[in-house]
Amino acid sequence: MSNSGGNNKPTKNIIIGCSGSVATIKLPLLIKLLLDSESPYKFVIKIVVTDRAKHFFDSKDIPLGIQIFNDDDEWKMWKKRGDPVLHIDLGKWADLFVIAPLDANSMAKLSTGICDNLLMCTARAWDLSKPFIFCPAMNTKMYNHPITEEQIEKLKGWGYREVPCISKTLVCGDTGNGAMAEVQTIYQEIIDSLSSTLTPAASAIPASASS
Ligand SMILES: Cc1cc2nc3c(=O)[nH]c(=O)nc-3n(C[C@H](O)[C@H](O)[C@H](O)COP(=O)(O)O)c2cc1C
Repeated sequence: MSNSGGNNKPTKNIIIGCSGSVATIKLPLLIKLLLDSESPYKFVIKIVVTDRAKHFFDSKDIPLGIQIFNDDDEWKMWKKRGDPVLHIDLGKWADLFVIAPLDANSMAKLSTGICDNLLMCTARAWDLSKPFIFCPAMNTKMYNHPITEEQIEKLKGWGYREVPCISKTLVCGDTGNGAMAEVQTIYQEIIDSLSSTLTPAASAIPASASS
C-alpha cells in the first residue's frame, strides 16, 4: 500500500511494535531516524505496544500524529458486525512490520503462534509476503538459554528478518549478548527490506514518474 509522498519520496506505512523490554526507551530515537529528511522514504508510522512496553516510554515523546495502539483500542473499536477489527486493518494498512524490541516473552509467543494481545494478533495475521523484522532484546542469561536460538531460527524459517542482539553492558548491569541492536542498524534493515521488496519493474520507474 505505497503511494508517493512529498519530494518524490515513496510513502511507506510501517508498524513499530514494542514489547516489555527496557530497550523500548529507544522508540523515540527510531522514529526520529525514520522521519529524518535524509530517509529515502516518507514514512507513515503507527505504533503497537504491549501493556508492559507502555512502562518504558512517555507518549509525550512520540511526535503528534503518530497513533499508539494497545489492547484496549482493539476492544473499544469493535461493538458490532461491520466495525473495524484493528489487528486485521493494521496488517492491511502496513507495508512493513518491525518489532523493536522483541522481548523473551513475546518472542516465545510469536514463535508458537500465541495471540493474546494486539501486538501478537497483528503479528499472527501478518501477510508473510511483506517484510517482518524482529529485534530481540533480553538479559544475557535469558539470551543464552537454548530456547532463544530455537525460537529465532523458527522465526527466520518463516521469512522474518532478524536484527541480531549485540553484546554490551545491559541496563541490569550484566555484560554480554542480549542487548537490542543499535537503532541505526534497525533503521538500515527497514530501509534494506523495503528496497529489496521492490519488484524489478517498480524499481525501474524513476521517482519523478510516480504519482
Ligand atoms: C525493568 C524491566 C526491564 C525488563 N527488560 C526486559 C528485557 O529487556 N527483555 C526481556 O525479555 N524481558 C524484560 N523484562 C521482563 C518483561 O517485561 C516481562 O517478561 C513481561 O511479561 C513481557 O511482557 P510482554 O512481552 O507482553 O511485553 C523486563 C522487566 C522489567 C521489570
